Amino acid sequence: MTRERFGWVLVGLIVGIALAMLGITPSVGADLPAGQALVDLRHDTMKTAGGALQFLVKYDGSDRAKAEAGAKAIDDVTAAILTWFPEGSGPGGAGIEKTHAKADIWANWADFTAKAKAFDDASAELTSIAGGPDSAAIQAAAMKVGGTCKACHDLYREKDED
Ligand code: HEC
Repeated sequence: MTRERFGWVLVGLIVGIALAMLGITPSVGADLPAGQALVDLRHDTMKTAGGALQFLVKYDGSDRAKAEAGAKAIDDVTAAILTWFPEGSGPGGAGIEKTHAKADIWANWADFTAKAKAFDDASAELTSIAGGPDSAAIQAAAMKVGGTCKACHDLYREKDED
């Protein structure tokens, strides 16, 4: 996402929260599942992005269409990630049996948002060059994106013990 679009997503979220407080359900995000299905959506979509990222960090310049599609799959996550973590979708939330999301997300929402923004910025950079010929620059941009995934996970995702 571009910086401008990210700004609008934030505005949309704030408006959505305000409407929710008034008891009006905003149409944006209305098709979002709840409970465990939302956790599954978070996992599935981030896993897809992870697969794309693995391809891009080792990109050899051989498949520009695949590189571009991979960057888009990652960028789609940046567009939605904050909407996937509504209050109450963490441990102990309604309908949630198992999640790796830490309660700290909602205790430190401003920082979680900043982590999402860093991810969005890095993704915008990757998206802008992914379809181009410079595979070394694409690898470097993908590595940078990977650093932003990790920065968020280090603080806000529980490590899997099983
Ligand atoms: C702003 C924070 C944040 C960013 C950025 C982020 N994630 Fe995540 N990710 C999470 C959280 C929180 C969970 C746990 C969700 C749950 O279990 O409900 C998670 C879960 C996952 C999972 C599922 C694994 C598991 O069992 O918990 C994968 C895979 C994953 N992320 C990959 C990625 C990749 C790849 C990126 C970057 C392209 C990324 N994530 C960016 C916060 C983030």
